[in-house]
Amino acid sequence: MHSNFLLIAPLALTCLFVFSQIGQSLSQEELEIHGYHFHTYFFQTNERNTQEALAFRDAIQNQIDNGFLGNCRLNRVNLAPVGPHPIGSYETCCNKTSISPALTFFMENHGNLSILLHPLTRYEVMDHTHRAMFLGEKLPLDVSVLSEDLAENLDLCLPIPSGNDINAV
Ligand SMILES: *[C@@H]1O[C@H](CO)[C@@H](O)[C@H](O)[C@H]1NC(C)=O
Ligand SMILES: *[C@@H]1O[C@H](CO)[C@@H](O)[C@H](O)[C@H]1NC(C)=O
Repeated sequence: MHSNFLLIAPLALTCLFVFSQIGQSLSQEELEIHGYHFHTYFFQTNERNTQEALAFRDAIQNQIDNGFLGNCRLNRVNLAPVGPHPIGSYETCCNKTSISPALTFFMENHGNLSILLHPLTRYEVMDHTHRAMFLGEKLPLDVSVLSEDLAENLDLCLPIPSGNDINAV
């Protein structure tokens, strides 16, 4: 009896600790996914690859305009690495209501292009690492420029006033 207790007590305490940590770690509000980013990558010094990416971007814009990707919007084209992104890129931001058609469209049409898909929560680093996925080849990101906790500065997929231009960086 006594030796059993000595064995079980530490185990029970460990379990209690683990479960209390799971319960406390993130609240529902902190876990909420507000939307998604699809980052399309291309080798900006490769003319063919860049043209494929720009043509794909036109196709995305068409789907936004015809309503299939109605709750998505495009951000500008980056012709150089920017933020965590190692090569040329552009972002499509989709509200969570658009995730299903957006996934369908990107899966079926990304061609030779790598796409990073990540959720938008308060936790930018986690969103770009453990919670992220790639279509096509996976690329390394520099997450050191991202914030661990954005708190109130969430990306809500709001329209970007000067969103449609090309950014040479
Ligand atoms: C996403 O949702 C927010 C809040 O409802 C809205 O203001 C924004 O315009 C939406 N973005 C798109 C691209 O539909
Ligand atoms: C993908 O790359 C191959 C080989 O370079 C090329 O033939 C094909 O046209 C490319 N696909 C698209 C959608 O551009």
